[in-house]
Amino acid sequence: MLNVQIDGVWMQFPRGTRLIEACAQANKFVPRYCYHAKLSSPGNCRMCLIEMGMPKMGPDRKPVLGTDGKPEIAWIPRPQISCAQDVAEGMAVRTDSPMVRDCRHGVMEFLLINHPLDCPICDQAGECRLQEFSVDHGTGGSRFLENKVKKPNNVEVGPRVTLDAERCILCTRCIRFMQEVAHDDVLGIVDRGSHSTIACHSDRKLDSNYSLNTVDICPVGALTSEDFRFKMRVWFLKETKSFCTSCATGCNTVIGSRENTIYRQTPRENNDVNSAWMCDYGRLNFHYLHSKDRLMEPVLKTKDGHEIATWEKAIARAATELKKYRGEEIGIIASGRMTNEELWLAKKLAEALGTTLHDIVPHFAEGDDILLSSDRNPNTRGAQLLGLASAIPGEHLGAIADGVRSGKIKALLVLGEDAVEAGIATDLLNLESLIATHILPNATTKLATVLLPGSGFAEKRGSMINGKGRLQRLNRAINPPGNARDDWEILRDLILAVTGHNGIYMIEDVFKQMAASVPQLANLSLSKIGDLGVQLPT
Ligand code: SF4
Ligand code: SF4
Ligand code: FES
Repeated sequence: MLNVQIDGVWMQFPRGTRLIEACAQANKFVPRYCYHAKLSSPGNCRMCLIEMGMPKMGPDRKPVLGTDGKPEIAWIPRPQISCAQDVAEGMAVRTDSPMVRDCRHGVMEFLLINHPLDCPICDQAGECRLQEFSVDHGTGGSRFLENKVKKPNNVEVGPRVTLDAERCILCTRCIRFMQEVAHDDVLGIVDRGSHSTIACHSDRKLDSNYSLNTVDICPVGALTSEDFRFKMRVWFLKETKSFCTSCATGCNTVIGSRENTIYRQTPRENNDVNSAWMCDYGRLNFHYLHSKDRLMEPVLKTKDGHEIATWEKAIARAATELKKYRGEEIGIIASGRMTNEELWLAKKLAEALGTTLHDIVPHFAEGDDILLSSDRNPNTRGAQLLGLASAIPGEHLGAIADGVRSGKIKALLVLGEDAVEAGIATDLLNLESLIATHILPNATTKLATVLLPGSGFAEKRGSMINGKGRLQRLNRAINPPGNARDDWEILRDLILAVTGHNGIYMIEDVFKQMAASVPQLANLSLSKIGDLGVQLPT
C-alpha cells in the first residue's frame, strides 16, 4: 500500500492504482473525457488536470518532515494529467485548487470553440459529459467570435452507427475500443488541427458486431445509434437492470423503457461476465417483443376452427387433454430460453404426468472469442442442472420425434419453441393433443389444440445460469401485451389443474423449492442473486 495525499488528506492505495481512480475512491471525482477504465490511457483531452507534488527531499535523501510530522510537499508548478499515471509513495494531489479550476475552465472553453449548439436536438443530451462538465467546470460564456469549423454531419460510418463529426472532441475512445476490444482497427483520425476528424478506413465500414459500444463510450453525441437516434429523450427512460438472453454469455444490461415500450438496451458493467460491453446482435434483439403479431389471448382448437378462450377455460382444457394420457404417451419439448423457475415447473409437470420424454431444443450459431457464445440458448446450463435436459442438450428429441411419428406419443407440450422449425416433429397432426406456449405465432402454435401466450425476457422475472455457471436475475421492464401471462404462472396453473395442489403463490416460492432440492442453489433466493449474479459451484 502506498501513502498518497489527496486534497490534504493522507490515504493508502494499492500499488498500481491509477491516480484518477484513487481520487475517485477518495470521493474527489476528477472530470475526464478520453480516460476509460477498460481502455488504454492516451491522455489527450487534458480534462483530468490536477496539481501534483512529491515529498521534499533533504540532503540526506530522506523526506523533509513538517511540523505535523508528515512529509513536506514540493508542488510541481505545472498541472499534470491524472489519468495516465499510477499513484506513488508520498505523492500529493490537489483536485480543486485555483490552478486546477483555471485549467478546467480553459479546457472546457477550448473544447467548446468548435462545438455546435446542438443540445436541443442531440441524442446525448441528458447523459452528455460535455453538458455536465460545462455546468460544473465551464465559464458559462464564450469569447470566440470567429466562424466555427464545419465538419461532416450525419455520416453513416457503419450500418448501425452515425457520426456527427462537429460534435466529436477527438478523445479517441471509439478508436481505442475498436483496436483493443473489438480487434477491428477500422477507425482513425484524419486531417490536421481544427479540421481533424474521426473517419473509417477508406475501404471499410464500422460494421463489427461490437460497433454500438462506441456509441456508449462516446462521451458526447458524436456517435449515435441508428436504432435509438431521435426516438426518445434519455431522461424519460425507466432503467431496469437485467441481462441479455440472446446467447449463453448473458451480458449484463440496462433496459431503457417508457410506457411499456423498450427503446434501448445498454451494457452494464460486470467484470465476471461482460466487462462493460455487449454485442450489437444481443443489444438490438428486443424489437420482436413489440411485434404486432404477439400472441395475446389463449386460443383453443374447436371443431370449426379456433376460438379465443379465458385463461381458466384454456388451462382446464389443457389439463383435461394431458390427464387422458400417462407416461411415455406424453412428450415435453422445452426451451433453453426458459428461466430456471419455468424449467423447474416444467420438470415438476413432467413428473406429475409420469413422463421422462423431455428435452430442450439446442440453438447453435457462430460465436466469437470476445463475448458472443455459439450457444444461443441463454439457459442451457439451467436446463441441465434442473434435469430438463441431459449433458447433451437435445439428445432425447429424436425419441420424441419417433414417438410422434409412430403415434406412440399422443400429447405433446411445446414450451416456447417451434417443433416444426426445429425439424423435430413434422407429424404433429398425428397428435391427439398439442399444447403450446409462445410469444409469437409459428408453425407449431398454428396447429396447437391449446395455445397459451407467454412473456418475453423483458416482461418477466426469473433466473438463468449462463454458460460459465453464473446464476443471474431477470427483472421485469415492461408488461406483457394483452392477456399474455408470465410463463411460470402458466406452468404453475397447469400443475395445479393436473394434480390439484402445488402450494406455489409467488415466483419466490418456486426458487425456494429449487433451493431446497438442488444442492448448487442451496441457501440462495432471487433477491440474494443480486444485480451482478452469483457463481455457482461446479
Ligand atoms: Fe471520442 Fe466520440 Fe469523437 Fe470517438 S466520436 S473520438 S468517442 S468524441
Ligand atoms: Fe447477448 Fe451474447 Fe451478445 Fe452478450 S454476447 S450481448 S449475451 S448475444
Ligand atoms: Fe486524462 Fe483525458 S482524461 S487526459
